[in-house]
Amino acid sequence: MASNHELAVEILQTIPGYVSEFQFVFDSSHININMVTESIAEFERTLVTPNSRFDQWLLGDKDALTDQEKDGYRLFKLTGCAGCHNGPAEGGQAYQKMGSFNSYDTTHPSIGRQAVTGSRSDRMRFKVPTLRNIELTYPYFHDGQARTLEEAVDTMVWVQLNRKFSPTGNAKAVSFLKTLTGDLPQIILPILPPSGPDTPSPQPFE
Ligand code: HEC
Repeated sequence: MASNHELAVEILQTIPGYVSEFQFVFDSSHININMVTESIAEFERTLVTPNSRFDQWLLGDKDALTDQEKDGYRLFKLTGCAGCHNGPAEGGQAYQKMGSFNSYDTTHPSIGRQAVTGSRSDRMRFKVPTLRNIELTYPYFHDGQARTLEEAVDTMVWVQLNRKFSPTGNAKAVSFLKTLTGDLPQIILPILPPSGPDTPSPQPFE
């Protein structure tokens, strides 16, 4: 955010309110970038959305899902979606090609992970996204091309698995995905400590 590691550390080091917090947590008033990333990671660990109806069902509440949603979960596993979207976040565990079987048509210029690694085999590979709260995070895919979950599911089943869902199958899968919406964290915005006299302004591009 208009910064780099050196500048971020320098800014924090000149703000007494941060220095005392780092002293308290890390027992050191000499801030370094590892302390900063560890702090951010610790905050991000609180950004979980527990208690979705799917979680309640996994914990044994047999009535937390309707029959239609349970059918959708069965389809999700049987068709092969769970091969990529798995683990506690139903995703986030791997990079996979967008278009494993059939190519994904897009005018978007992104080449996926190849832009990071330079390797041709990473062309159109993207991080498998989490499906938690997927109902709330449209539009879908790296180019935002799918505007509805119905469309995203139809595209996935075709490009990734070379199959087609009937309208009923699609509706079942979508109804399952909607059970993955959890309780969102309530974040109370902190009042940030003010800058000190020596705090540099952001000048990342000089
Ligand atoms: C081969 C691995 C793989 C399989 C199998 C797979 N997906 Fe995906 N899925 C991905 C990847 C990679 C993306 C990200 C694509 C992109 O951003 O362009 C994705 C994206 C999605 C998205 C959009 C997420 C978002 O936040 O934009 C949904 C919804 C989805 N998948 C559902 C499914 C369903 C339902 C199935 C089964 C029919 C399925 N996926 C099968 C790898 C897979």
